[in-house]
Amino acid sequence: MNLRQVVRSFVLSLLIATVAARAETGAEGWLRYAQLPALAAALYENAPRQVYVCTRTSLAENAASELMRGMHSLLGRQMTLTSKLPDSGAFLLGTSDELHAILPGLAPPALPSSESFSISTETVSGHHFWIIAGGSDRAELYGVFRILEQIAQQHPLSAVTETPASSIRWVNQWDNLDGSIERGYAGRSIFFDAGHVRSDLSRVADYGRLLASVGINGVTVNNVNSDLRTLEPEMIQELARVADALRPWGVRMSLSVDLSSPQVVGHLATFDPLDPSVAAWWQSKVNEIYKAIPDFGGFVIKADSEGRVGPSKYGRTPAEAANCVARALKPHGGLVLYRGFVYNNHLDWQDLKADRARAGYDNFQALDGKFEANVVIQIKHGPIDFQVREPVSPLFAALQRTSQAIELQVTQEYTGQQRHMVFLVPMWKTALDTDLRAQNRATPVKEIVEGKSFHQPLGGFVGVANVGLDANWLHHPMAMANLYGFGKLAWNPDLTTEQIVRTWTRLTFGNDPNVVSTIDDLQSNSWHAYEQYTGPLGIGTLTNILGVHYGPGIESAERNGWGQWFRGDSQGIGMDRTVATGTGYIGQYPPELARVYESLTECPDDLLLFMHHVPYTHVLHDGKTVAQYTYDAHYAGAATAATYPQRWQRLKGLIDPERYDQILKLFTYQAGHAVVWRDAVDQWLQRISGIPDGHGRVGHFPGRMEAESMQADGYRVVEADPWESASQGKAVVCERPMGCSLTTVLDRPAATYSIAAEYFDLRNGVSHFQLRLNGKSIAQWLADDKLPPAVVDTNLDGSTSTRFTVHGVSLKPGDVLTLEGIPDGEEPAPVDYVELQPEP
Ligand code: GCU
Repeated sequence: MNLRQVVRSFVLSLLIATVAARAETGAEGWLRYAQLPALAAALYENAPRQVYVCTRTSLAENAASELMRGMHSLLGRQMTLTSKLPDSGAFLLGTSDELHAILPGLAPPALPSSESFSISTETVSGHHFWIIAGGSDRAELYGVFRILEQIAQQHPLSAVTETPASSIRWVNQWDNLDGSIERGYAGRSIFFDAGHVRSDLSRVADYGRLLASVGINGVTVNNVNSDLRTLEPEMIQELARVADALRPWGVRMSLSVDLSSPQVVGHLATFDPLDPSVAAWWQSKVNEIYKAIPDFGGFVIKADSEGRVGPSKYGRTPAEAANCVARALKPHGGLVLYRGFVYNNHLDWQDLKADRARAGYDNFQALDGKFEANVVIQIKHGPIDFQVREPVSPLFAALQRTSQAIELQVTQEYTGQQRHMVFLVPMWKTALDTDLRAQNRATPVKEIVEGKSFHQPLGGFVGVANVGLDANWLHHPMAMANLYGFGKLAWNPDLTTEQIVRTWTRLTFGNDPNVVSTIDDLQSNSWHAYEQYTGPLGIGTLTNILGVHYGPGIESAERNGWGQWFRGDSQGIGMDRTVATGTGYIGQYPPELARVYESLTECPDDLLLFMHHVPYTHVLHDGKTVAQYTYDAHYAGAATAATYPQRWQRLKGLIDPERYDQILKLFTYQAGHAVVWRDAVDQWLQRISGIPDGHGRVGHFPGRMEAESMQADGYRVVEADPWESASQGKAVVCERPMGCSLTTVLDRPAATYSIAAEYFDLRNGVSHFQLRLNGKSIAQWLADDKLPPAVVDTNLDGSTSTRFTVHGVSLKPGDVLTLEGIPDGEEPAPVDYVELQPEP
């Protein structure tokens, strides 16, 4: 871009920013640059009004235009880009050498890496300069974003030098070429549609900007379950446009590839990594890619996993496969991120020694030191698969002569799919701070993946992001804190949860102290609450693992080859992973940590059922039995979620109406769905263990009227599947086009109540519901929510169960309450129960 183009794009971006700020769709994410109040703006009165860029690359000029955009939007200040060193104050952007060359009086600090930046102010000959020095043009951009972040939070500018903790700070997108996204919950792909790269890539450029603002430097744009067309010559040309859109933000594109490509795309007889023709094919393919995309990042490889082919077909190891591809990339500076997620999904569930958690270590430990220098093993943070709580993978400690990256999941596959607010930074911090005590010394996971612990050349962080075309990228406005937090941790894993959430909230919702403290508190405790109402004690999320991984589906984890077993029966629950009597998994940890996990008394309660099989009467550290703790945790978690809507309502008027309404709706839904989770798991546990809830809550719902026991006109009783996903296992459906009704005569004491109707919202129709009191309509609504099961889930189950609540209804004995349902399409206006709760 020349200067005129930069200015034009700056003006254009201002226009876009103004429109977006008015609409508050969430599209700007944390880069809203909302105008500061006059008093706060006065803090920056002395900030220069001119910008001078030493480095004439499109990246550096982009950094300058971002700075002008931000300053204008935050401070209402007209900025000018000057092409010659001004004789008054200015922002100066450049590398240390460049800055020194233009103003020999300047001495910006030495920068340790090409991605480091420093921010400082200096007065030279009476002129005030704000200096952003970068180890490279990309780092100058990072410096610009950091200044704007400070100003948006109304912080005084302070001198700072920063260097990212590791060089690999990537996101993976699991986007398919047809435009769908595997485990994506926010609309279709921003990259692909109908088998091609989209013609309009403006969202891709916007994404690059968001990512760069938190220091992300790479995006793998296609699904790890890679389409074999990815490496076709035409597709490479199309993909070059994606790389072009990301480049101005210093974000390099990479691709997931299938190891059978030499055979399928290249028409070779084999894809054996030791076959010279295969190595030659990879070399020529990689050369072809670099011709089209000179800054290409490399390949992510999923092989021998969940049906993907791999080197095992030829009796070769992951190291042989990774190295074959890595050698082709090496001359170009590209990387192979070979995924450690290699396991057999056809395990024998009857074999008490079988254990999916062992797979990472079993498959890779012996290969330590056998990988090329540009291979990085990309390891999911836990040994299973992004469950709400897992220990860290023991593989991190086992690879001491191999570069590693940790894979974290921003997209909330097992954690509420962006319909539940679950702030994952505390979970990731727990993993990153876990000290594995390899070699009997301090080796926290974060230092291992930074390459520090074992002196590895590479290392880093990969976040499975899966943003989509939804205007606000991830559907739930609160979920953006996860993307932001991932970037921040990848840059500096020592940041605290509080630092991350506070900054995100201020940037996203403004600096009002009430807003900041409420949102920070809501976010910070949300993982704990979700864990409580889904799967506490390390049991796993307890979602339907054979389906959409969303609502409760408890026993779906048992008795199949997927190995997510928790082995619950009438006697006890939990996976025995001890060395003494179990699968031996615990023995994969270094001895000090293994000793803690092996011991029933020392094992932390929150991992107990991951490590041990215990009777339901086993007493935890807090003195409760496993059964009672589980009942209580589900009640406590659902009670916390129930507070979200009220707490949010206190912010009315302090948040723009669009996002206020959107979040209120999501919180109301979450509060209802947390009850679905609570009841499903607690009912199931009570039945399987035969141990009643000491507080008498489970299965006894004083205010609840089961649909199947109300007086029905047209409604038919059906069994829910699995049974525990409906109250008492039953629901009702209506197959009469004109509708059906459920009626009851109330006998509660006269008072004010909330009335909740629990129904099932399927995607294959929009049923209409109406509540009547003594014949008079008191509420009506449509079952039109777009719940995450993007594929039509026709089951009345824990993923589709939904609650509608009407508050403040005065009731007296003898009142007649009627719920009417009119089916639509194939959705039979299904109802589970109606529940009355007295209200103060
Ligand atoms: C999970 C997820 C899959 C994904 C896989 C992976 O199993 O459900 O959709 O492909 O992880 O990480 O490869």
